[in-house]
Amino acid sequence: MTTAKLASLMARGAEFLGCDTAILCGAMSWVSERHLVSAMSNAGGFGVIACGAMTPALLDAEIAATKALTDRPFGVNLITMHPQLFELIEICAKHDVGHVVLAGGLPPKGSIEAIKAPREGKAGAKLICFAPALALAKKLARSGVDALVIEGMEAGGHIGPVATSVLAQEILPEMAQLLPVFVAGGIGRGEAIAAYLEMGAAGVQLGTRFACASESIAHPAFKKAFFRASARDAVASVQIDPRLPVIPVRALRNAGTEAFTAKQREVANLLDGGVVDMGEAQLQIEHYWAGALRKAVIDGDVEGGSLMAGQSVGMVTKEEPVAAIIAELMEQAAAALERRAV
Ligand SMILES: Cc1cc2nc3c(=O)[nH]c(=O)nc-3n(C[C@H](O)[C@H](O)[C@H](O)COP(=O)(O)O)c2cc1C
Repeated sequence: MTTAKLASLMARGAEFLGCDTAILCGAMSWVSERHLVSAMSNAGGFGVIACGAMTPALLDAEIAATKALTDRPFGVNLITMHPQLFELIEICAKHDVGHVVLAGGLPPKGSIEAIKAPREGKAGAKLICFAPALALAKKLARSGVDALVIEGMEAGGHIGPVATSVLAQEILPEMAQLLPVFVAGGIGRGEAIAAYLEMGAAGVQLGTRFACASESIAHPAFKKAFFRASARDAVASVQIDPRLPVIPVRALRNAGTEAFTAKQREVANLLDGGVVDMGEAQLQIEHYWAGALRKAVIDGDVEGGSLMAGQSVGMVTKEEPVAAIIAELMEQAAAALERRAV
């Protein structure tokens, strides 16, 4: 059931993305590869490849393989601190990727222009950025960003300090008229989608809810850990050394959570000893997470690896196709809007 009301609230976001349903599956490193991304786009939503630490050659192959599985639009998520960011942007342009999502902080100098530059008569990509606060949302809009994602601390993976509900109240009333804003973090059911759409969101982005879809290549042990977990098991990592600011990561509590504390101590000691500078220290932390996530997602090491998950993990109870998840979310959203109309 998709009521006219839901379709009309999603129309702007769906048009911007070029899909039927303004629901993005947020990029998840190791998880958001060709299978999940194409399944998402084929089901009428919008899939996003997680480039993570991929080399340009690997991204090239991943985009080509995704294109072989879907002729619907999908996006590519690039991390701003990737040392080969501009080569990755060229790979996206070569494949005529319609939407680039930049994660990991403000876009570096020249990256907005490179992503949006028209090539050989074709329009450049649309650029989507994360806005962690209203002032930054305004700055990003002024710099030519085409759409924003506001992601609250309920989300899985790297997180900011503010809750989705607060970001939505602060940012949507001011920004939603200017450009499409997608809300992410802690969304597990359609009722929440309906509420954010009514507040002015163009659509939503979910990660945790799609991580265990049938089409996701995540290891069965990774999926089982999600099915068993409840909201309170998805905890944010703790910064142990005030001199080493690390972006918190939300993941299911396990031995890997403890190992991260040890890793921070090790990197803080290297920093103290002058062996590494702050940039290198933070890069080492990010490499640690990428490796730990791979261990859990690909190898199924659910004790030693990182089980990045959002607080909505309690609403992930079984493996089901992406299309079924989208249909359920849409039904719940439509029913919620119907109830309001009475
Ligand atoms: C396992 C996992 C890995 C993630 N990896 C990335 C990533 O590489 N890049 C990124 O921008 N966001 C990443 N995210 C965040 C998601 O794209 C999405 O914004 C988030 O999951 C939405 O919140 P939710 O988990 O509450 O649905 C990741 C999330 C999870 C659960």
